[in-house]
Amino acid sequence: MTLIAPSILSANFLKLSDDIQMINESEADWFHLDVMDGRFVPNISFGIPLISAIHKEATKPLDVHLMIVEPEKYFEAFQKAGANHLSIHIEACVHLHRNLQHIKSLGMKAGVAINPHTPVQLLFDILSDIDIVCIMSVNPGFGGQKFIPHTISKIKQLKAEIERQQTQTLLEIDGGVTLDNAQMIIEAGADVLVAGNTVFSANQPKEMISKLKHS
Ligand code: DX5
Ligand code: ZN
Repeated sequence: MTLIAPSILSANFLKLSDDIQMINESEADWFHLDVMDGRFVPNISFGIPLISAIHKEATKPLDVHLMIVEPEKYFEAFQKAGANHLSIHIEACVHLHRNLQHIKSLGMKAGVAINPHTPVQLLFDILSDIDIVCIMSVNPGFGGQKFIPHTISKIKQLKAEIERQQTQTLLEIDGGVTLDNAQMIIEAGADVLVAGNTVFSANQPKEMISKLKHS
């Protein structure tokens, strides 16, 4: 069954508690939390205090996606804030493998996010040490962008390699996921769909989460 991770970036920050309750009560599996620093991506979102606050109300795992340079400086802080999964960008890491080991030593699942221009083959040598690969299907930085079609072939290539190596790695797709493309993305091999705009701009977000899950 496909996992659904609504992205809080598109929630109503003035009524965040309502949106957290909605996700708690829905068929969603994770909370997807996008941290942006204005350096790795051309936008600034939110950080550690907000994640701590969400952690107090959320009843599902917090899937934290770091779009920041030098992410290794903050692993302990995010763990203390309540992050269950920590994904870092391959493009932001000189020592990716060391960073993944560090994240795991803190008791979190270790994820690698990968931009649209970066070949998935760069991950093959360390696949067995990656819990989650977050394939970006838009250029990171903003919600509500259009899905980049080439992502489908990246999902297929990575899925084939995961099956060949028989690792437990989950494939998460982030950006531009809609009801129109969800089925195609799942058929290509996705295990987890992130959805921001599609969930929070829907008239009935809970029903939308359910529809995505059963696509
Ligand atoms: C983009 C973020 C995404 C974003 C997805 O940089 O990583 O998680 O919130 O939003 P939608 O689903 O609206 O494309
Ligand atoms: Zn994200």
